[in-house]
Amino acid sequence: MSEDLWTRALGDPAVESAEVPAPGSVTLIIPTFNESGNVRELLRRLGESLPAHLAVEVLFVDDSTDDTPEVIEKAARDCAFPVDVLHREQAVGGLGGAVVEGVKRAAGDWIVVMDADLQHPPHLVPELVGEGERTGAQLVVASRYISGGSRAGLAGNYRIAVSRGATWLTKGLFPRALRGISDPMSGFFAMRRQVVTAEVLTPLGYKILLELAVRCRPAKVAEVPFVFQERFAGESKSTAKEGLRFLAHLASLRTATRLSRMAGFGLIGLSGFVPNLFALWLLTGAGVHYLPAEIVANQAGVLWNFVLIETLLFRDRRRHRHWADRIGRFALLANADLLLRIPLIALFVTRFGLSVLPATALALVTTFMVRFAATEALVYLPRTGAKHRRAAR
Ligand code: GDD
Ligand code: MN
Repeated sequence: MSEDLWTRALGDPAVESAEVPAPGSVTLIIPTFNESGNVRELLRRLGESLPAHLAVEVLFVDDSTDDTPEVIEKAARDCAFPVDVLHREQAVGGLGGAVVEGVKRAAGDWIVVMDADLQHPPHLVPELVGEGERTGAQLVVASRYISGGSRAGLAGNYRIAVSRGATWLTKGLFPRALRGISDPMSGFFAMRRQVVTAEVLTPLGYKILLELAVRCRPAKVAEVPFVFQERFAGESKSTAKEGLRFLAHLASLRTATRLSRMAGFGLIGLSGFVPNLFALWLLTGAGVHYLPAEIVANQAGVLWNFVLIETLLFRDRRRHRHWADRIGRFALLANADLLLRIPLIALFVTRFGLSVLPATALALVTTFMVRFAATEALVYLPRTGAKHRRAAR
């Protein structure tokens, strides 16, 4: 992954090389996607708001197709604090992926994440860190939903309703991990570097705070109210596709434990009967003999299951194998399951004296468990070697 990254150190090289962070030092991570109209004003306002005693380095993680990196580079010359740009050739993981790349490079004791479009007031950066130091919190969230905060800048009733609905849904799904966080959708927060284990993060799109809160489980959380401002320039990069990504993100966070993944696996398997029977109906209707029709129709169910399992259950474990390899292995296991069931039923009936129905049920459960374990191990087993290499930088 690091091949398609290039880093440019900007500003004073002498300041750049001072890598031992002072206590309370801050790495401010700002993801940018075509924000050339905002970055100069953002840096100017940061310069106004950052107190001299706070050691801050700014790290832009940029996926722009416009001249945002060049504009940052020029504006950085007027800054009293170090400014870096990490430009990515491929926007892996979108906004969330960009923040994780930034986290991996962050040297500060605190990481602060904020948007580049000035919807997040820069003067709150020292306040977020200060609140964390005062209260001993590991995570400080800038919230629109506590007294003193507001979402004034969220354009339109539609966006407000969607944001509210998403917040409720998310809080309902993660009551424990999100206790004390009134605004899990916020993109503005401070977190202690040592709490963030970048290796366990597999963010997807916009909701990086949710990812961090659920996977890193900060023990103590504080909040600071803020007024969500209007965008300074340009337009929101969020799209309807981002909404779908959000739902997939929720599903993959919720099914992170083995038991819930197994339940998901079972439910998806059950849903596979629908395309299976449908294909059988089509084929026999077209005059195909029922035996070959059964075999082909089973593949329709297998394909359906594969697509759902890939996108909902193992989304974060797909990288290490080519999709053709994965689907081949998956189909092999699914069909082996079918073949295995018959001798197993025979075994239960003849050797253990079960009658046909309980024998079939037992065989179904057994092959299900075996298939789940085998799918996990043979199709989606993370290769630890690759993981270490990724985490190394
Ligand atoms: N590097 C990178 N890559 N940055 C991105 C990408 C990407 O793919 N997509 C968006 N960004 C950057 C934008 O340039 C901006 O600095 C920031 O991420 C937020 O993007 P916006 O497009 O302005 O998002 P928004 O205003 O709709 O949503 C913000 O507010 C929401 C709360 O309603 C974000 O902070 C959300 O995380 C937050 O939930
Ligand atoms: Mn915005």
